[in-house]
Amino acid sequence: MNLKSRIETACKLVSERLRFQADTGIICGSGLGSLAEEIENQIIISYEDIPGFPVSSVKGHKSRIIAGQIGKGKVLAFQGRFHYYEGYSLEDVTLPVRLMAALGVKNLIVTNAAGGLNRNYEVGDLMLIEDHINMMFQNPLIGPNDESMGPRFPDMSEPYSQASLKTLQKLALEHGTRIHKGVYMAVTGPSYETRAELRLFSRFADAVGMSTVPEVIAARHAQIPNIIGISCITNKATGEDIHKEDHDNVVKTANEATPRMVRLVREFLSR
Ligand code: HPA
Repeated sequence: MNLKSRIETACKLVSERLRFQADTGIICGSGLGSLAEEIENQIIISYEDIPGFPVSSVKGHKSRIIAGQIGKGKVLAFQGRFHYYEGYSLEDVTLPVRLMAALGVKNLIVTNAAGGLNRNYEVGDLMLIEDHINMMFQNPLIGPNDESMGPRFPDMSEPYSQASLKTLQKLALEHGTRIHKGVYMAVTGPSYETRAELRLFSRFADAVGMSTVPEVIAARHAQIPNIIGISCITNKATGEDIHKEDHDNVVKTANEATPRMVRLVREFLSR
């Protein structure tokens, strides 16, 4: 099946089950799945039930869509993301975003767990992504371009909506949530970075992680109007001293930060 038919097939099944128009799509990062548990009047769709949909293999990720309401927003949340390091193609990785675009979603909120390259970041902090650097050296748009899905050369001068970022910053300030705004660097993983790599990356970015960028590129291509990225800083990644990284810790810290992320997202959707 080509990409367009995969999307059409998935879109048909999901829209039949939903019976409402979702305005906001959420991708839950590692350990951040409980963001989706906040949804009221839940409709749950397993990835398994969607023809041609992959199933996530990483600990801390479920494999289902939860749709319903958060505040005033009608949302569609993907609990379980596909990472390039799992061996999925970038077409698979970005399928949820393509599906959301086909369903007419206007806001996309992409969340992730990330290492803090910036020395001022503490474990558990949230960072609004203001821009990114693609160090995956891969791009989901490589290959023939179907003009009906998006332009050959999509603009990336404002991948994340600066207006939404300002609103989120204001909200965080109002309820005293510590929040940063910074540059996210995407690597393929799955090995964590060496200290030399971290020292290099920290010159150019504030956080490092293994996701988000392919999805945001596809979302731009698919012309989803309003894209927001939020990282949860799960570990220090400054390269200054030796300390071993561990995925279980990443998931645990992300879990602990979820309530703050939920509050922010809920209030954002209520505005
Ligand atoms: N590096 C890359 N990806 C990550 C990290 C990290 O330190 N923490 C969480 N995801």
